[in-house]
Amino acid sequence: MLSYSFLRLFTKPGKLIFGLRHPQTALQVLKATTTDIPRLCRAVGMGSAEFDAYVKEVRLNKDFKSHVLDRLERFTKHLKEHGLYPGTIDEIQGTIVYAITRFSKPEVVLETGVASGISSAYILLAMENNNKGKLYSIDLPFEEGSESSQWATLLPKGEKSGWLIPQNLRHRWKLTLGKSSDTMPDLLKELESVDVFLHDSDHSYENMKWEFRTIWPHLRRGGVLLSHDIEQNEAFSEFCQEAEGKSFTYKGGFGGIVKAE
Ligand SMILES: C[S@@+](CC[C@H](N)C(=O)[O-])C[C@H]1O[C@@H](n2cnc3c(N)ncnc32)[C@H](O)[C@@H]1O
Repeated sequence: MLSYSFLRLFTKPGKLIFGLRHPQTALQVLKATTTDIPRLCRAVGMGSAEFDAYVKEVRLNKDFKSHVLDRLERFTKHLKEHGLYPGTIDEIQGTIVYAITRFSKPEVVLETGVASGISSAYILLAMENNNKGKLYSIDLPFEEGSESSQWATLLPKGEKSGWLIPQNLRHRWKLTLGKSSDTMPDLLKELESVDVFLHDSDHSYENMKWEFRTIWPHLRRGGVLLSHDIEQNEAFSEFCQEAEGKSFTYKGGFGGIVKAE
């Protein structure tokens, strides 16, 4: 199973030339497309044609491109000039999150880690197209001199968490500010159950393990736990051993587990 639309995400002219110059990377991309994506689709129960259709849908959305992706590109360029990186999920990971949200049609998605709001925007766009769902996001705001100051560069000066989320998608969004370890327990008391969870906050081993173990009993059977930056430590791979479900990874940096029915 090879997703044509998905493959096209990689084959923009610049990336193709890069791939020819770096065959090792090109092989990794081929593996990700031919192995990781089919495995992901099998785990969530989505057919390749349906996955392909969602990829195409989001790629062809001109408003999303100009309001979110083009603005992110300009911001990323600005950060790179200062030797910094925005830390958002990339276009391919965003497309995967979009496809999973479109396919699973969740009522409730919970994510930790918003910053500019790229993952939030993909989830909210999918919910808008589903005509269903609410996204609960938790983000630790930057305070000068606080322990979160390392993340300050992720937002342009004067902007707030989720500044790239288009106005017309915000009616399905509820943002809670604070550390996930402080705010998630109360939020979970409010939510009956969660259909999809995405971790993208503090990537320390302790915090990732804590978030995975805390959300798991609240995740409905068949629900999906997603995590960005799984390569940073063993938290995700260890959790896959202890949790009952089908796991998948994408290029070793993004992963998920579908909770057993
Ligand atoms: C990698 S960025 C999130 C990127 C976002 N998911 C996207 O795709 O655009 C991480 C965010 O998590 C926040 N953060 C860091 N530690 C946190 C914690 N303990 N709880 C909640 N948010 C935290 C940071 O301030 C930052 O806004």
